[in-house]
Amino acid sequence: MSKINAAITGIHGWVPDYILTNAELETIVDTTDEWIMSRTGIKERHILKGENQGSSVLGAEAVKGLLEKTGTSPDEVDLLIMATVTPDMLFPASSNIICDKVGIKNAWSFDLNAACSGFLFALVTASKFVESGQYKKVIVVGADKMSAITDYTDRTTCVLFGDAGGAVMLEPNTEGYGIIDSKTYTDGSGRKYLYQTAGGSAYPPTHETIDAKEHFIRQEGQAVFKFAVKGMADVSVEMMERNNLTSDDIKYLIPHQANMRIIDATARRMGLEKEKVTINIERYGNTTNATIPLCIHDWEHKLKKGDNIILSAFGGGFTWGSIYLKWAYDPK
Ligand code: UT7
Repeated sequence: MSKINAAITGIHGWVPDYILTNAELETIVDTTDEWIMSRTGIKERHILKGENQGSSVLGAEAVKGLLEKTGTSPDEVDLLIMATVTPDMLFPASSNIICDKVGIKNAWSFDLNAACSGFLFALVTASKFVESGQYKKVIVVGADKMSAITDYTDRTTCVLFGDAGGAVMLEPNTEGYGIIDSKTYTDGSGRKYLYQTAGGSAYPPTHETIDAKEHFIRQEGQAVFKFAVKGMADVSVEMMERNNLTSDDIKYLIPHQANMRIIDATARRMGLEKEKVTINIERYGNTTNATIPLCIHDWEHKLKKGDNIILSAFGGGFTWGSIYLKWAYDPK
């Protein structure tokens, strides 16, 4: 029997309506459009407004669109994995909530947390279920309501993040398309540079943790930047070398969108010209687990069967990794 690969057979991305521009941020904190654009490449980001609206809203919209686009009935789905750092609540898993919202009843589901590399880690995890031959339709969702853990008095972080969701369908492919190779890493000693201190079991919520603003994301930007540039570039080059790929062989690098300068450095190390790199950070900011699916969604109309694609990410933890895949379908 020929080898079973896990292939992406559909993609959908979703962002809420409200747009938080650099101009509005200039009225909230001491910053400028010029600083944000030159240091990050971000112009605007989308924010999910409304009471009690969590990441499952973003994920469910993405999954609804995906089911519609791929003509899939919720009953056909075997497994749904959600990558997020902003689950609706600590438990139950937001993946369960998404399944309930979209009517997926014959599947099992779980959340996966690998910070900004979560979508990539979830895709690798999901691919193993498909490659085993046991699972036929697996959905991977990346969704984060980053505005829920962003301190809008901290100019070093509040300009970076946005809210979004994205979802892909993974199915078996025996013609050589789909995920060919992956490499993933973690280094827990990096946890001191990017974190949310309180709200978990080590520091449960108290009046003190709230007063100290310990439920918000904190980052030592420069330190993370250095690790991110090295980690994302190294693993992307490693993926090329492992698979004997030259820059000419690669159609697109689809990188996590944290900072334009990190993306540029990775592309340079890979020898890729700008046209081969998918970039939409300007419109969405860093949406954590949604960046890669949002990019795939935005570039879907350009992707052709057989295109060699590299996905790469770096995130808190630290976590980082890369996937090499052969795109499995032509624009519809
Ligand atoms: O996705 C998960 C992984 N995360 C990342 O990959 C993020 C990695 N880090 C970064 O992208 C960058 O470090 C940042 C965009 C967060 C910051 O850029 P930077 O070039 O590293 O700036 P910096 O932290 O070195 O700060 C430079 C200056 C400082 O002022 P002084 O000390 O030089 O006077 C900051 O206080 O810029 C100041 N600054 C700002 N000024 C205007 C910091 N944030 C702002 C701001 N507006 N929003």
